[in-house]
Amino acid sequence: MKQENSTILEHRLFHGDYRLLKFSAPSIGPHVQPGQFVHLKIPRFEHAVLRRPFSIFKADTESVSILYKAVGRGTAALATVVEGEPVSLIGPLGTGFPMAGNGKIPLLVAGGYGNAALYLQAAKLPVKGVAFFGGRTADDILCVDEFKALGWDVHIATDDGSLGQKGFVTAALDAWLEEQEAGIRGHGSGENCFQGSEKNSKPQRSCLELFACGPNAMLKAVGDRAIQNGLTAWLSMDRNMACGVGACLTCVIKRKTADGWEWARCCKDGPVFNAEEIIWED
Ligand SMILES: Cc1cc2nc3c(=O)[nH]c(=O)nc-3n(C[C@H](O)[C@H](O)[C@H](O)COP(=O)(O)OP(=O)(O)OC[C@H]3O[C@@H](n4cnc5c(N)ncnc54)[C@H](O)[C@@H]3O)c2cc1C
Ligand code: FES
Repeated sequence: MKQENSTILEHRLFHGDYRLLKFSAPSIGPHVQPGQFVHLKIPRFEHAVLRRPFSIFKADTESVSILYKAVGRGTAALATVVEGEPVSLIGPLGTGFPMAGNGKIPLLVAGGYGNAALYLQAAKLPVKGVAFFGGRTADDILCVDEFKALGWDVHIATDDGSLGQKGFVTAALDAWLEEQEAGIRGHGSGENCFQGSEKNSKPQRSCLELFACGPNAMLKAVGDRAIQNGLTAWLSMDRNMACGVGACLTCVIKRKTADGWEWARCCKDGPVFNAEEIIWED
């Protein structure tokens, strides 16, 4: 983890209300793992002392990029920064996504900025599986061409039906799972991810592994499906953060232990957790 006195290299509209920000970051970029984030001090937003966390979308030896949307005062101020402006970054922070298990077919599930958070994972995973993107409208669906270019099969769902199927992204996931099962139950021919399941027996969904980032309701729905089907799911949790480095406990969630539960810090122990560990609270 490094603190970088960075400069803004690029700042532009990316898609819908989302903007891309690219920072010089030679001491952060080379060390980034998929699912990690930077903690950003927003320039000219001096009345707010707290940094804001943003998932690292892309990274190389010299720079990191994020995709963000203005949702409040900090991100509204961020939208006014200009190329060449100095900015302070801490990163890479957090525990990101693990690689998929041996022989597993990865499924990505993303909503909103989750598409950005999953991009490096999509690039790094050796097996390209199926990506499910959800949002309110077509404007919320990011990076479709980028994921397709990496070799992912992309399925889209929007609340208003303006792109892909109408409804929640978890409905698109359910439909795909059912199609796979129907394929093996029906003809038993052709390759699908349930290959190896006995024909006419209950399909083995355990060949799948899920990686998800998005709104908490979506994450819970993905985690519930995984647990019901005996699948592993890795969820990147979104919590308000203050220090970003494990010191203040602003970002805690309840995590199961052998004899009960403990507090886990999303900024340091996460943001990515195994769905089985998470105790959801209303
Ligand atoms: C690990 C992590 C990675 C993130 N990555 C991205 C990213 O790549 N792109 C992106 O656009 N956003 C990302 N976010 C969310 C981003 O940090 C918030 O949008 C930002 O902190 C809001 O700051 P603000 O000052 O504009 O909003 P505020 O004025 O602080 O709040 C405005 C509204 O947003 C809500 N809010 C504030 N922070 C969060 C938060 N962390 N999660 C949910 N609601 C919040 C508040 O409750 C309030 O309703 C990430 C959050 C986390 C925890
Ligand atoms: S934000 Fe301070 S402990 Fe996580």
